[in-house]
Amino acid sequence: MRRKLAAGNWKMNGTSAALEELATLAQAHPAPGCDILICPPSTLLHRAADTVAASAVAVGGQDCHAKTSGAHTGDISADMLRDAGATSVIVGHSERRTDHGESDAQVQAKAEAAIAAGLIAIVCVGESLEQREAGETLDLIRAQLAGSVPQSSKAETLVVAYEPVWAIGTGKVPTIEQIAEVHDFMRTELAQHLGEDTAAGVRLLYGGSVKASNAAEIFAVTNVDGALVGGASLKAADFSPIVSALEKA
Ligand code: PGA
Repeated sequence: MRRKLAAGNWKMNGTSAALEELATLAQAHPAPGCDILICPPSTLLHRAADTVAASAVAVGGQDCHAKTSGAHTGDISADMLRDAGATSVIVGHSERRTDHGESDAQVQAKAEAAIAAGLIAIVCVGESLEQREAGETLDLIRAQLAGSVPQSSKAETLVVAYEPVWAIGTGKVPTIEQIAEVHDFMRTELAQHLGEDTAAGVRLLYGGSVKASNAAEIFAVTNVDGALVGGASLKAADFSPIVSALEKA
């Protein structure tokens, strides 16, 4: 059985006052029927970890460097995230791939570093609108999975998030059929790379404009094991109903 995961990505949002939201979220779900993860900006990570220390909410990073330490000004290693209290780290988010030109090989190296540091790597994949309209979605997902997922991944240390770039922050959501098609495809592709047993245990998240009003429908899809939520994870009042929908799925 795959334990469902509700993950929030705060992106470049949140200063000290936002820790309130984390405390409220933790109080609302004292014994959740799914895993809950919030990835705040790294400036808040340590205090966020302290805020949720006695709760069921975990915290994670939004990116890490592939190396453990060294002369990389401004970068943060997976070991540092772990030391600050993270259990997980997002790698290969489309905003990193676009804003920082990250390649599949770099994302794979980051995921390997994350796993080596004892973190769960949440590897993101997803097509652009042009790729979707050109009928290239599945080819792109295949290439991104082959290039970004470490061969050595175990079910416990890998999460894959399908995030169509055109659905992120836009309010546009793929149809349930489109989500189901990609998620089924990802499970099959992962079986090729990691073997049937491992692939069967890897959690597959959907991400892109998930909100309370569409969560239940998305969570009913067979190979959707949770969500990676951006905008609707910033406020406990918005994220909590998404967690509740996942608990009921
Ligand atoms: P969104 O972002 O929920 O604001 O669309 C999702 C993501 O980028 O993880």
